[in-house]
Amino acid sequence: MHSHLLFAALASIARASPTQGARGCREVQIPVTVSVPRFHITTSVHDNWDATALSFNLTRRDFGSAEFPLPISGVTPGPVESNYTVGATVCGHGGPTLVLTHGIIESKLYWQPNLSDAGEYSFIDAAVAAGYTVLSYDRIGVGSSSKVNSLIDAQFQVETAVLDSLINYAQTKLGSTKVALVGHSYGAYISAASAAQSPVDALVLTGFSGTFDFFGPFVAGAGFRVARIQDPGRWGELDAGWLISADLYAETYAYFAEPFFEHRVAEWSYGVASEPFAVGELPSLLNTTIVYGDITAPVLLLQGQYDVSACGGNCAGVLEEVMTKLTGARVVERVDDLPAG
Ligand SMILES: *[C@@H]1O[C@H](CO)[C@@H](O)[C@H](O)[C@H]1NC(C)=O
Ligand SMILES: *[C@@H]1O[C@H](CO)[C@@H](O)[C@H](O)[C@H]1NC(C)=O
Ligand SMILES: *[C@@H]1O[C@H](CO)[C@@H](O)[C@H](O)[C@H]1NC(C)=O
Ligand SMILES: *[C@@H]1O[C@H](CO)[C@@H](O)[C@H](O)[C@H]1NC(C)=O
Repeated sequence: MHSHLLFAALASIARASPTQGARGCREVQIPVTVSVPRFHITTSVHDNWDATALSFNLTRRDFGSAEFPLPISGVTPGPVESNYTVGATVCGHGGPTLVLTHGIIESKLYWQPNLSDAGEYSFIDAAVAAGYTVLSYDRIGVGSSSKVNSLIDAQFQVETAVLDSLINYAQTKLGSTKVALVGHSYGAYISAASAAQSPVDALVLTGFSGTFDFFGPFVAGAGFRVARIQDPGRWGELDAGWLISADLYAETYAYFAEPFFEHRVAEWSYGVASEPFAVGELPSLLNTTIVYGDITAPVLLLQGQYDVSACGGNCAGVLEEVMTKLTGARVVERVDDLPAG
């Protein structure tokens, strides 16, 4: 997942101009209003015993079946309105624009690592050097965005509505002439759902296979712990339904494949860039039907071959099924053999 997919694809550009991206970037706070129905999510996590029990529930063989359904008891009768502030990094001034959505246990730093000697790993620097404006943002609840409730706010369809608002922000406030969505992992699902309901010019899905068949090893291997207990200094303000991986090696299992990464990148990712995910996110994603056939923009699927959460550690052939569902897309291209986890 933290594969160096896009980094690899654009590395040569980045090497040509390693620092150009950072210079034109600014941090912005974007107010958004969303109004969508909310699921009633019935799980409740107070401590690490609960986090462990939740991991067991999510990885049971019959999870999601009629016998052991998703922890959802229903949905609100109508939309619920909320205002959030989204923390974003904007590089560039309009024109063709990429809107980047990171995955779970990540933050917007994923796209622009600030470890030393990171030029080759910065997707943003490469994209800016190639002439794009880039908007990368922290998902609600995470990093520089508003702190939100892990059950009520941090739901998939709410996050999709946030991305819809950011597309509008790019078009109306940044002077974007074209908008492409680029998502990683859980952020790829948000990007796909948004592209199915908002007109965009292109969609790039990374760390994504369109199937949840391989979530078990990811959930079990990450060893989820309550973030506010794990590191009160970083996450003490979050409610107990925000979870983070147990340690550096658990996170490495979930995101990196030996020998295709530098250990210092995993260390930086765990120590600096990681942010918790909320217990409302996975059930609400699983309870949402993304209509892939409604996506009309060209789609690029970019996949590390050894991705655990998307493919169970081997992507060969796994993306075939979702490709057959992208019936409305003008073009669908796939690269699924990049040497990365
Ligand atoms: C796990 O599932 C059981 C059985 O449905 C449920 O009673 C329990 O609350 C669940 N635990 C968590 C933490 O969601
Ligand atoms: C959200 O913000 C708008 C504009 O400031 C305001 O009119 C509305 O009442 C707010 N909604 C909520 C739920 O706070
Ligand atoms: C990288 O960014 C994080 C989050 O903004 C910050 O805490 C950290 O000090 C930065 N590290 C460097 C080396 O700039
Ligand atoms: C969402 O959850 C409800 C309640 O468990 C269930 O009846 C419904 O079929 C689910 N929908 C999807 C698309 O999974």
